[in-house]
Amino acid sequence: MVNLKSEREIKLMQQAGVILASCHKEIAKLIKPGITTLEIDTFVEGFLQENGATPEQKGYKGYEYATCASVNDEICHGFPRNQSLKDGDIVTIDMVVNYKGGLADSAWTYPVGDISSSAKKLLEVTEKSLYKGIEQALIGNRLGDIGHAIQTYVEPEGFSVVRDFTGHGIGPTLHEEPQILHFGAPGRGLRLKEGMVITIEPMINQGAWGSKLDANGWTARTVDGKLSAQYEHTLVITKNGPVILTQQ
Ligand code: MF3
Ligand code: CO
Repeated sequence: MVNLKSEREIKLMQQAGVILASCHKEIAKLIKPGITTLEIDTFVEGFLQENGATPEQKGYKGYEYATCASVNDEICHGFPRNQSLKDGDIVTIDMVVNYKGGLADSAWTYPVGDISSSAKKLLEVTEKSLYKGIEQALIGNRLGDIGHAIQTYVEPEGFSVVRDFTGHGIGPTLHEEPQILHFGAPGRGLRLKEGMVITIEPMINQGAWGSKLDANGWTARTVDGKLSAQYEHTLVITKNGPVILTQQ
């Protein structure tokens, strides 16, 4: 069942989104060669606490951190660790903020120092693909329209769309119906309605779209060791079009 949100719920999710977006802005300033993803995770916990919010991921299904920090060939759910980021790395920081019960979810891939031109292109295409998907989040459109817009933009650029992880409805719990695929056929799937709050979060690979799971049971990485990037927003579907709750 797809749960439509009340104005009150959306207001709290919007407040969570503002905190999340300002946290990402601070992370962007912190990321440079030498910092560890564990230091970033600790910063995020403190930042949320100062803003009266909590990290929803911590404790979720036994996950132990405030953030997911996925480096280079890690697609998602990388564990923050005590290891320095290096010049030329890319790192995706993903987090879910809970503000008085309102949730917002947003991931962003950051370059560390100077990255290769092919990595730069991956980041640009992945970010743009998120907005291609968001443009389709209109009342009366179908879920397939979102996935199709992302896939048909990404693949001609020479990249692939991860199939094993999806966006989702969000609020009052983190993962709600519907699943949002980042690939698919136009005009197919559930019709979008006013008051739906969803995430769109394409994970885009330089090489093949396949993923494999690490022994930790969480972290997914590319099968060929090539790079993967991800940008994610939480948005609400309104009469005036999609409203991004996590815009930086
Ligand atoms: N933000 C992630 C998502 O989009 C959540 C990762 S699962 C967690 O679904 F356990 F790490 F929280
Ligand atoms: Co999400």
